[in-house]
Amino acid sequence: MLVSAPGKIILFGEHSVVYGRGAIASAIDLRTYTEGKLLKEKIIKIHANDLKIPGLSISFSEEEIVLGTDYGKAGFVVSYVKSAIEKIFTEYGSRKGFEISIKSEIPVGAGLGSSAAVVVPTLKLLSELLEMNLSNEEIAVMGKNVEIEVQGSSSGIDPAVSALGGGLYFKKGKIERFSAPNLPLIVGYTGEKGSTKILLEKVKALKEEYPEILENIMDAMEDIASKSKKILSENGDIKELGTLMNINNGLLEAIGVSTKELSELVFASRISGALGAKITGAGGGGCMYALAPNKQREVETAIKIAGGIPIRTKTTDEGVRVEHK
Ligand code: MEV
Repeated sequence: MLVSAPGKIILFGEHSVVYGRGAIASAIDLRTYTEGKLLKEKIIKIHANDLKIPGLSISFSEEEIVLGTDYGKAGFVVSYVKSAIEKIFTEYGSRKGFEISIKSEIPVGAGLGSSAAVVVPTLKLLSELLEMNLSNEEIAVMGKNVEIEVQGSSSGIDPAVSALGGGLYFKKGKIERFSAPNLPLIVGYTGEKGSTKILLEKVKALKEEYPEILENIMDAMEDIASKSKKILSENGDIKELGTLMNINNGLLEAIGVSTKELSELVFASRISGALGAKITGAGGGGCMYALAPNKQREVETAIKIAGGIPIRTKTTDEGVRVEHK
């Protein structure tokens, strides 16, 4: 059986969402594929060659699953898979042997939800193989619990986007899904990832020093997110969406989460014809994205020349799905 699930992009509201304002994320058409079958033996085999886990085998006793190897970054992904397997076995009530192959189109560590996009199709695949038939909503919740176990905390956004697909507006733990397919985006990856923890601390410190100014900035970010949600869900004027992206980016610059590399990619995109360009995610490195409906090639080239890695994608309504049985 083959299952796939999408990665995600934060379109608006990073950082302000931490302070109770609304944010928008969307599924993108870069997907992770998990293929697998049940085995008679009590062994779990994981193959994930493009994640640099060459045919890793995991054995398990009745009590625990034992991981034999740690493969750096890929080993990190495996800890998500291990937790996902444990969650499914707990829900199912017993353990089964199986084999699973993971292939991903999503760069690891670029803030595009690569971990959730591995967890979600793994949960779905096992749920189908074991005939548990968990709903996508249940898988989103289970995915959040996996993230809490592995990383200590989770807003649940990445697994929710990956499981449900579409655009999600989230505010104070509440999630509203809307349809927003086919928005053409170019993601520009700086090639390095900022530490979300450090960036959150930096914004918090600035907010403690200038509470009123930062509250006003967060309110402006909230206005942008709610206006953008209306445009996206009603198929409105994407030129206006571009303008809102540019304003939002200015506000992210103001709270200190941009870097020279990110700014260069943002300006290179705008100069080469993007309607808007902004940081996505925590900043301090990582990615920006540009909205460039008729200038995709130009923007890709400009990002490359400015030292970034362009990734062409678009928003999608397709969440986790069974490709074939
Ligand atoms: C990071 O991808 C997004 C932040 O808003 C942090 C968070 O929401 O947990 C910066």
